[in-house]
This record gives sequence, C-alpha cells and structure tokens, in this order.
Amino acid sequence: VDLQINLDRDQDLSGQIYRKIRRAVLDGRLRPGEAVPATRELARRIGVARGTVGVAYERLTGEGFLESRIGAGTFVSQRRREARDPGSSPDGALRPHPRWPPPRTWATFSGDHPEFDFRAGVPDLRSFPFRSWQRIVTRQLSRSAMCNGEYGDVIGLPALRAAIHRHISISRAVDTHPDRIIVTSGATQALDLIARVLLVAGERVAVEEPGYPPSHELLQSMGAHVVPVPVDAQGIVTDAIPDDVRLVHVSPTHQYPLGVTMSASRRRDLLAWADRHDAAIVEDDYDSEFRFDGRPLEALQSLDSSGRVLYVGTFSKSLMPALRLGFLVAPPSLQPALAKAKFVSDWHSNLAAQAALAEFINEGTFARHVRRMRNRYQARHERINEILDQTADPWLRPLPAQAGLHITALLPAGTPPDTLPLARKAWAANVAVQPLSQTYAGTPTRAGFILGYGGIVRSRIADGISRLRDSLG
Ligand SMILES: Cc1ncc(COP(=O)(O)O)c(C=O)c1O
Repeated sequence: VDLQINLDRDQDLSGQIYRKIRRAVLDGRLRPGEAVPATRELARRIGVARGTVGVAYERLTGEGFLESRIGAGTFVSQRRREARDPGSSPDGALRPHPRWPPPRTWATFSGDHPEFDFRAGVPDLRSFPFRSWQRIVTRQLSRSAMCNGEYGDVIGLPALRAAIHRHISISRAVDTHPDRIIVTSGATQALDLIARVLLVAGERVAVEEPGYPPSHELLQSMGAHVVPVPVDAQGIVTDAIPDDVRLVHVSPTHQYPLGVTMSASRRRDLLAWADRHDAAIVEDDYDSEFRFDGRPLEALQSLDSSGRVLYVGTFSKSLMPALRLGFLVAPPSLQPALAKAKFVSDWHSNLAAQAALAEFINEGTFARHVRRMRNRYQARHERINEILDQTADPWLRPLPAQAGLHITALLPAGTPPDTLPLARKAWAANVAVQPLSQTYAGTPTRAGFILGYGGIVRSRIADGISRLRDSLG
C-alpha cells in the first residue's frame, strides 16, 4: 500500500507514525488483511531510523491493529474488522481493547415460551415461593435492616455469611469460617474477582472441554489464554493439563455440561497436579444442591490441604438467577486481595437482597425449597432417562449423571458434532434444546444436546422428547 506519512520532525516520531497508521486502520483506508510496508522500507521512505518505525509497529501490534506473520510480513489485523469501520458504525470513535472482540453471539431459542422448554441452566421458577420471599424482602427493606442505607460490609452481610457457612459446612463439608466467605454477584463475579487477583494477561488457564462458555469468555476478557482440556468418565484429564497453566477451572460435583462427577482418585490427582505446578483450582459448585443418589459429596475444597482451591457457589440454580447472589470461599492467603477486588468492583452486593436471603435461609424456607425441588428435578431426570432408554432404536443416549438441572444426551456416532442446525430444527418445532457443540471452547467432538428440565414439568417430558425426535426428521 502507498502509505503517506508526513511527519513533524520536532515531535515524537514513533508516536506520529503510530497515530497515523492507527487512524488509517480506523477509517478503513487500511483494510483488514492488507500488508503494511516492512519497517526497513517505511523507515527509508519517510526518512527515519528503522527502530523508530519498529516501536510504532510494536505498539500497533500490541493493541491489535497490526499482526505479524512469521516469514510473510506485517498486516492489518483481521480481528478488529467488526469494531473498526466507522462508516458502518456511527456509534463513536472509541474502540474496545482487542481483548474484547465482537461478542460471540450464541444462537438460542428466540421465542418467549417454547412449548417444550428444555433450556439448560434455568431452575423451575414457577415453583419458587415468591410469597414468602416477598414478605421477607419487604421486611428487609426497612431502614434498620438496610444499615440505615449506608455502605455495608465489603465481603457481605455478616448474617448472610454465617448462614452460608452453616449451609456449606453441613451439606458440602467445605472447610471455612464466615469471615473467609465473600458474598458476590453470582458465581460469575466470584470468577471475575479470582481472575483479577491471580492472573496476569497472557497467562494460561485450563478449562474443561466441553465447559461453560461464559467462564471462558470472562477469563479471555482478562487477557488469559484459555486452554481447553478434555473430560473423561472421571472428570478433567489431569495428564492433559499443560505444565505452564496457572489456574484450572473445574465443576467436580456435576461437570458442566457432561454431568460427570469427578472421581476420588482424579480429585487427588488434580490437587497433586496443582501442588506440583504451583497452580490454583477454581471449584465451580453451581448446582450441587440437587444430588439424587443420596450421598452428599464432599467438595474438592474439603480435600485441599495446601490452600489451592477457591470454592465458588451460587443461588442462581437453588433459588433464581435474577437474585444475582453467590459466594466465594478462598484460602486465607488470598482473602485480603479478594476482598479488595470486591471493593474496587462494586463495594458490596445489594444489602436488601443479602438480608432477605439470610432470613430466607435462617427461617428454613431455603432448605425446604431445595428439598422440594430436589424431588421434582429427580423425577424429571428419571423420566428423561426412562424415555430415552426405552426406545428400541436409541437415537439419543443420555450420559450418566446423578445431579443438577440438565441431562446431556448424545446423538448416534457419525452425526456431525455441530448440532446447531439440528437444534434450529427443534426450535422451529417449538422445542427449546441447547446444542452441545456450543459449549466447546475449541472444535466440538461429540454430537449431542443439553436437555434442561427446570422449565418443563414431568408430565410434558414424553411429548417434548417425541416432538424433538420428529423435528429432527
Ligand atoms: C456451570 C455454571 N457456572 C456458573 C454459572 C453462573 O452462575 P451465576 O448466575 O451465579 O453467575 C452457571 C449458570 O448457568 C453455570 O451453569
């Protein structure tokens, strides 16, 4: 390209080159994929030292405007394409840092009320005791309950931390103290705080493959390099975790989405791996309240003797996602930094909601609700298995699981792993299912669907599955 760069010789030369090329990329005079002159050539053309151009190129590369390909040269980055063209986006001159690529849009069922709702991750909100909740919230909105409207405790209302402490030490054997619990805005914010405190941009983190894409995206937005690691029948394959990984994100109780419970030996392996590699483990315990085999399973955190596990819980599945309340239990060595991270993020979570939840747990309504929902979810879980196991020609094979709000089921071998086209057919027939392929950080390898049962009552499951089958033709 014929790049015209006129320089003011009295000013910072590298800075001017940087700004001119950046401007040319932003207004589309330089297009994605287009080659820019080599540093030596541009330096000669505009009469500056090669290093001066080099400094500008390095900055442009660091900010994602340019990319260099070994042996081929330097090019305008392809990745900025969507964010770049001001002609097509009359929404201002500023552009996000390249760590924020155009959002990956997930195709989902777009209607409001699918006739058969197998959406994943949504609890049964029709069964939520809204009347009790409303009574408690009204009481907790009073001036005294809200600490006179002033700022409250950064790590969470003491009454709520005490209630969470009782809950997780009994049901999950989590070894902690109320002062080591940080109340967060869902599991999502817990991971956000962890990443802020533990990671530096460019470091590698391991995630389960398939896994929970919003967590991958969060980690990427912090500049982490996400490495997908396969999951087998025992959980994440520890041997496949690269040596230089700083943090491993896992869901040991009920792997999302495959449903595997991490075996005792794999838990030991993972803890030993983290010890050997000086790494942290994030235990995402998103739906552990709903275990159906009666054996309460101890959290991975309870086996950790070297302070490497950060335990993350949420009320999004046990109560409702709209609450935006979750919590984080960290080793003492990280507690002060995490508390500070919470403070700089949003000072603390909403006090009225925290106070209401504390009372909801303390008066026993939470435990009653969880017990009731566990029975219902178990009945739905068994019904899906029963129907899929019954058919003479198995077209959808449920993966074994003993917990949670969804079952993942696989299509016959030979089905292309990208099941989005099949899911679209189901959506068109008013059956909302999630393609398994959307939960892969890398290339999908297994064809299947995630069948959530929070949104569908037991008596509708058989019809829903037969409609699903018919829709796939
Ligand atoms: C595996 C997993 N982790 C975390 C979350 C996020 O939870 P929260 O709503 O508490 O941010 C979800 C919610 O769908 C989930 O499925």
